[in-house]
Amino acid sequence: MSGSQLWMYHSCLPLVRLCLSNDSNRGNVSSIKFADFIVGFGCATPDGCKLSNQAEGSTAGPKGELDSLFGKVMSEANPLRIAAVSDIHYTKSSKGALQELFVEASNTADVLVICGDFTDFGLPEEASVLAEDIKAHVRIPVIGVVGNHDFESGKNAEVQSIIEQAGVSLLDGDTAEVLGVGFAGVYGFGGGFGQQMLNAWGEPLIKAFVQGAIDHSLRLEKALTRLTMKRRVVLLHYSPIRDTVNGEHPELFPFLGSSRFEATIDQFEVSAVFHGHAHHGTPEGKTARQVPVFNVALPVLARSSGKQFLLYEI
Ligand SMILES: [Fe+2]
Ligand SMILES: [Fe+2]
Repeated sequence: MSGSQLWMYHSCLPLVRLCLSNDSNRGNVSSIKFADFIVGFGCATPDGCKLSNQAEGSTAGPKGELDSLFGKVMSEANPLRIAAVSDIHYTKSSKGALQELFVEASNTADVLVICGDFTDFGLPEEASVLAEDIKAHVRIPVIGVVGNHDFESGKNAEVQSIIEQAGVSLLDGDTAEVLGVGFAGVYGFGGGFGQQMLNAWGEPLIKAFVQGAIDHSLRLEKALTRLTMKRRVVLLHYSPIRDTVNGEHPELFPFLGSSRFEATIDQFEVSAVFHGHAHHGTPEGKTARQVPVFNVALPVLARSSGKQFLLYEI
């Protein structure tokens, strides 16, 4: 998927209005969800209101412009509930394993984000099991980035295609927008943190390794530049800060993330960052400019809160 992506409000505009008008009674809103209105207005699934490259406000005529403006103003005035998880590591025998997570997230959040390691060995068969569960149980938009496990079998293109066909919008230097909140994502890379961060010096293999993180951080920078709204969220698989990998063996830190992403994030006004990958890490930290960073790897969530996803409102 490439280019700036936008949930198409136009064909689904009534659902945006209704959904937001109920936000003033948010205490009772749990039974009134984004996806319920998608179904109610003929956009049968999140696919029906799929991300597209269509520019916001492109509906022709004054009414279209007013509708677009209404949707934009109202969506920017209301919180977005994000259900965040990572490292779900689906196997060939995982059918139904995360049904409860998917149903509860659909009942309590406006969007589900999954920060990589969808599969255990990067097999298309694993992705297919997950795709069936997503199609059966998720009723809200899903945005994600892939993880290193999704590359393991060298069939990552097929794995990504299967996941995308289930309605998941995978970001790789791309952006997406849900109800006025922008999302920028890359899966990232390693290299280490702070003064110990690896630099491009010496052997070609070291330079190539470092270049991986540099390339990803440049793509993240370009994606963030394209997001013009006030609320912006970054999705990564690898960590941008040391704090949220704490708990892992220190020898692994260089392979769990890179401060290059923290530097990129702190160039922009970012509301929150979600990542995974560090299964034994720490749930929460902050960048140097105090942007909240959440390690939402499933094992971290289970250990720290007993929950299967983090519910975060911005
Ligand atoms: Fe993982
Ligand atoms: Fe990982």
